Amino acid sequence: MIVPVLPRRLVLAGVAAQPLLLQRALAAGLVATPSQTEGPFYPTAFPADSDNDLVQVRGQAAHAMGTTLHLQGRGIDASGKPLDGALVEIWQCDAQGIYDHPRQPGRERRDSAFQGYGKVLTDATSTYRFRTLKPVAYPGRTPHIHLKVATADGRRLTTQFYLAGDPLNERDFVYREAARDPRQRERIDMRLEPANGIEPGAFATTMDIVIA
Ligand SMILES: [Fe+2]
Repeated sequence: MIVPVLPRRLVLAGVAAQPLLLQRALAAGLVATPSQTEGPFYPTAFPADSDNDLVQVRGQAAHAMGTTLHLQGRGIDASGKPLDGALVEIWQCDAQGIYDHPRQPGRERRDSAFQGYGKVLTDATSTYRFRTLKPVAYPGRTPHIHLKVATADGRRLTTQFYLAGDPLNERDFVYREAARDPRQRERIDMRLEPANGIEPGAFATTMDIVIA
């Protein structure tokens, strides 16, 4: 997230950066994807296979446990301009709710067939694509996928995507904060569609990432 330098009078008035960004995006026509906490589980070491297929680890026959989700969308700015060559990273827990991270209790039980982390650049149509898992809940959190985006011109966004309508969402502090504005909620709520045409039992969703 780009944090603008606020005039002192605004700082004194207690105007936070996020509403200012929201106002700017609204003026441009598109609401920005809200910034959210990175959380404690961003990888400390990246897996040898860090591609955009998290369900299949290179060199392993097994697929990850869980339900496959094809996540794709475009990277655009608040005026709708495509953001080509933006680095999109995702990370999430496995189907048992276990991250591949030193701070994860029970890490040794994780599904080693799940990559846990992946990255890809937006292509010439500013599109990113991941094959990953439909996220699951773990103690204290509603299901979510973490994302970081770094644009070619140096803008940064850290955020999370959720399952639209999941009953746990409204009890999740991070979700509630990010979704206070219903227009921002649309940026982080994934609406899943069956994608049996792509692969049996899989789902797909399209989530544009709007960076102010
Ligand atoms: Fe998380």
